Amino acid sequence: MVALAGGFLSLLSPVSSAVQFAHAETNDALAARASDPCAGIGNQTWSSPADVRACFTSFPVDAEEKARIIEVVNKTLAFHTSVNYEKLAPAPFTLDVHEDLLADLARISSQKYASDFDLHIDLSRTLKRLNDGHCVYINYCYDSLFSSYLPTPLVLLTDKFGVQAVYIAPEAFTVASAEFGDEIKTWQNALPASLKGQLSSLSGAQVLAINGLDPWLAVDANAKISGSFQGLATRENGFFSSYNAGASGWTYSLGQFAQQSLPLTDSVKLTIQRVNSTKIETVTLPYRSRFGTTGLKFANSAEFRQNNCKAVSSTNGINYYDGSTTKRSTLPINPANKFRQAPMPSPSEERKHFLNVMLDLQPQTDVALPPGLTPSDPLPGSSSVVQFHLLSDKKTGVLALGSFSGDTFENLLENLLTGLQNLKKQGATQLIVDVSNNGGGYICVAHWLHRIIVGPKDTSDPQAGLDTETRAGPLAQLIAKAAVSGKDPNGLLLYNSISWSFANNTYMPAGYDWLAEPVKKTINGRQDAFSQRLGQECQPFEFDPPAEALFDPKNVAVLGNGRCASSCSLFSITMAKEEGAKTVVYGGRNSVSQQYCGTVGGQSTDYSTIDSEIVTTGLKDHPLAPPDFTTNSVQGITWRLAFGVDKPNEPEEWQNHPADVNLHLTADIVNKPLAIWEQVAKQVL
Ligand SMILES: *[C@@H]1O[C@H](CO)[C@@H](O)[C@H](O)[C@H]1NC(C)=O
Ligand SMILES: *[C@@H]1O[C@H](CO)[C@@H](O)[C@H](O)[C@H]1NC(C)=O
Ligand SMILES: *[C@@H]1O[C@H](CO)[C@@H](O)[C@H](O)[C@H]1NC(C)=O
Ligand SMILES: *[C@@H]1O[C@H](CO)[C@@H](O)[C@H](O)[C@H]1NC(C)=O
Repeated sequence: MVALAGGFLSLLSPVSSAVQFAHAETNDALAARASDPCAGIGNQTWSSPADVRACFTSFPVDAEEKARIIEVVNKTLAFHTSVNYEKLAPAPFTLDVHEDLLADLARISSQKYASDFDLHIDLSRTLKRLNDGHCVYINYCYDSLFSSYLPTPLVLLTDKFGVQAVYIAPEAFTVASAEFGDEIKTWQNALPASLKGQLSSLSGAQVLAINGLDPWLAVDANAKISGSFQGLATRENGFFSSYNAGASGWTYSLGQFAQQSLPLTDSVKLTIQRVNSTKIETVTLPYRSRFGTTGLKFANSAEFRQNNCKAVSSTNGINYYDGSTTKRSTLPINPANKFRQAPMPSPSEERKHFLNVMLDLQPQTDVALPPGLTPSDPLPGSSSVVQFHLLSDKKTGVLALGSFSGDTFENLLENLLTGLQNLKKQGATQLIVDVSNNGGGYICVAHWLHRIIVGPKDTSDPQAGLDTETRAGPLAQLIAKAAVSGKDPNGLLLYNSISWSFANNTYMPAGYDWLAEPVKKTINGRQDAFSQRLGQECQPFEFDPPAEALFDPKNVAVLGNGRCASSCSLFSITMAKEEGAKTVVYGGRNSVSQQYCGTVGGQSTDYSTIDSEIVTTGLKDHPLAPPDFTTNSVQGITWRLAFGVDKPNEPEEWQNHPADVNLHLTADIVNKPLAIWEQVAKQVL
């Protein structure tokens, strides 16, 4: 039996279970829990991670359900472009990506687990080891059903001598007290006697040790299990707090130290030196688990499983031509949406315009960036995730772009153009594009932005993105064949040729069996097969782009915390590698090469979408078709993989994306977009 795998802090030291925190609990609740470990927690906002864990670990593995999950995941992976590449990625990611998924799924199949939750952790972390934010396994039963929080998000700051150290974010208390309300009291009371009630005085403190050890050990223990990005630097950056231009205002990401998707850690001991103090102090703060807004309440174990852990109507695919579902308006919402790292359009929009977007085990943050840190008075063109500003030097325009979705496709195209043209009219000659925590979105919006900035040239017209390939396994070939021979009259399927173009950028004809002659490759010693090279499918755009460049790309800086993925990577890579734009990561560790983006993909999708392709083409009974999930699960995949710029016949995914500049943060500018932009204008442009 495998013991419960702990959170990243347990990789440093055993989970500290001794710490007890007073929280008022009625005798009734205690009595109920004695007979049912899930009683109580499903009907209250806050719980201790230990109580949530007691519920989660109380279910044994159901052998049939386990076999089902593994079979669905395994058969879905046949549609993920990167399985064989990820067995051992080329340099510079050889040390970062070396996961043999097929071998590990076989191991998990035969392994015994103490509970269903332990099985989930192993499966989830196995997929996470790909460090590929497109290929993630999620179970709504556990992942972020409760999120576990600390009121002390961390930042990495650099002093004037270049020395870096970890600090509690200067805005920590402001953010936490606005977001956590009354629960702040629990943390106030957990402080040692000398600090009781003075949580606010911890803001800005230097963190000398986490659980008695160098903070970097905690950062890197987390980077080992956090997944999402190939580059170590980018996974390290995810530990710290940061910001994003969200669809309904600027948001604050607490970072993976202060927000965790599973209730694995009870508390953390911080050795700190507060601002203006010479004393070294130790505080032990409990994680507190908050019931997520999209979970369904439950009174007991049976309701927990029934409400949150069973497949729902959108978990598995549908036949697009079955009665009511032929209408686009009645398509189900994609089950991956909660965990996609960009706001998602309606299902009908989603089918009209292809997406490339990263998944994570935490939903996108809705914590507000405090007013004092939020840029004010956005310029024309600003709406939703698109925000324009002009710096006081009057020559640096800023486009803060929180995602490549989050508004309708047409609004995004229009607002991006309006805003950039306005900046130019106001005298901007250089541009900062801030893509902090931009997890992707519409592929063609990324290409539009590239095209309108640089004007028409051989790198932007007609192909402003990167050519791609999809995997062409035996079942994919059968789906494509069926899709072009009458099973998809309305052109709804991914595998229909009418959506795609040849490598020469002319569209494929209807009825063309485009996967009939796959391109065979040997990858890491395994036979694999892909489609012919695909060209662009975005142009002509819905609107006419301007005939001239809006900015000289050499005067453009693409800025962020490195956590720019999917469509954001397609944009950043083409701007940097094809056009010579500068790339800037802020707040990165000096000793590790900073990547300006990662998790490139080409087009992402998930099991439910592939299952709809299978069901619609009548292939569900094929032996290679995944059966239905019976659990509330999601499996993400990369469906098309982009070819590279420097090595054009190899995937861009594992090619290097080193940032030109690692901009140091200080307490004055950290998490203050405007102050960071001013530094970029001064130091980089
Ligand atoms: C996964 O699928 C492959 C075929 O693609 C098969 O050989 C293997 O046994 C399957 N693994 C598991 C654990 O079911
Ligand atoms: C620390 O000391 C400086 C200089 O006296 C003062 O301006 C600042 O407000 C102090 N900060 C805190 C948090 O006490
Ligand atoms: C949830 O709590 C409320 C208020 O304490 C109570 O009335 C209700 O019965 C509880 N529901 C469940 C499902 O436990
Ligand atoms: C583009 O490529 C396809 C497939 O090779 C070919 O049939 C077609 O004639 C080409 N079109 C042009 C304009 O070259």
